[in-house]
Amino acid sequence: MTYRICCIPGDGIGIETIAAACEVLDATGLPMDWVHAEAGWGTFERCGTPLPKETIEAVTSCDATLFGAVSSPLSPVEGYRSPIVRLRRELDLYANLRPARAWPGVGSRPGIDMLIVRENSEGLYAGRERTNGETAITERVITRKGSERIAHVAFQLAKQRRGRVTVVHKANVLRATCGLFRRTVMEIGHAYPGVTIDEMLVDAMAMRLILEPERFDVIVTTNLFGDILSDEAAALAGGIGLAPSGNIGDRASIFEPVHGSAPDIAGQGIANPTASILAAAMLLDHLKESLIATRIRQAVGCALADGASTQDLGGILSTGEATQAIIARYQQLDNNDGGEST
Ligand code: NAI
Ligand code: MG
Repeated sequence: MTYRICCIPGDGIGIETIAAACEVLDATGLPMDWVHAEAGWGTFERCGTPLPKETIEAVTSCDATLFGAVSSPLSPVEGYRSPIVRLRRELDLYANLRPARAWPGVGSRPGIDMLIVRENSEGLYAGRERTNGETAITERVITRKGSERIAHVAFQLAKQRRGRVTVVHKANVLRATCGLFRRTVMEIGHAYPGVTIDEMLVDAMAMRLILEPERFDVIVTTNLFGDILSDEAAALAGGIGLAPSGNIGDRASIFEPVHGSAPDIAGQGIANPTASILAAAMLLDHLKESLIATRIRQAVGCALADGASTQDLGGILSTGEATQAIIARYQQLDNNDGGEST
């Protein structure tokens, strides 16, 4: 079967790191048709919109999408809204998966292997904001439906992992919203008897993650808490250059590095391609090509263990050299296994 993969590099280092991820996917030998689409600040300057409708059509017509990063101005610009935020909303990509694991040679905290399952469509990011004179209000939206579907994602993934889910909330203060989220996730948990559930208040969780990150398997939480905790987890695992993510919905899925467009280093050929390459591996997991996805992660591990890395991780390689280092190790692993994956 030939996969149709949509590729949206975006702005800044997204252009460099997505090219690297595509090279790695091509090197796996899996049959793929690439559909190239555009979004971001550069697109806005050229076409007057940051997210052309052709791009949305490309995402929905493909089996999965690889997205780089887009630049957003700090103060509002008429007609510009972050396209990734819009894509998440328009396509109802309600589950944001953010794995964080230990890697050799990059100062990761040992034993980390967690997956943060962040509700991606509601909470404080539901877009219900208003100002009234000197008062500004953001509404926090939590629904039973939204909590149920993210809970199912978390429990199903936990079954494929170490079988433990930690529900993170602040139900002692946010009684209505976090109360509903907590209750719903706990109820759904009864349908997964093989999975152990525990719970933690978000402030305690922020501390626990620093003290004993190896304790956690799947963490399920609301939108803003998940955003913050996943950056903390990324730092514990070795930095933002290694952090991939997936936005999953029932109609479409988009895989991207957690980092942004990094204008400070864009165009210099020094960006770390690993987060985008690991996002490509998550895309393959989603397409049930897990053998190849695992082999890409093994190749990344071998390259990092050998010190074949970019400057942000203390290495000396360019983006292109780091990519080739991973591809070379992938091919070695593939040959050792008789190449039965391709
Ligand atoms: P950033 O993630 O782009 O950069 C933060 C720092 O990390 C910078 O010093 C950068 O050089 C470094 N860095 C990031 N990724 C790296 C990599 N792969 N290799 C080596 N170093 C790396 O975040 P920042 O600076 O807050 O935002 C820059 C732009 O990116 C903004 O316009 C922001 O709106 C956008 N952004 C977009 C995101 C997306 O498209 N999903 C997510 C986060 C930010
Ligand atoms: Mg963030």
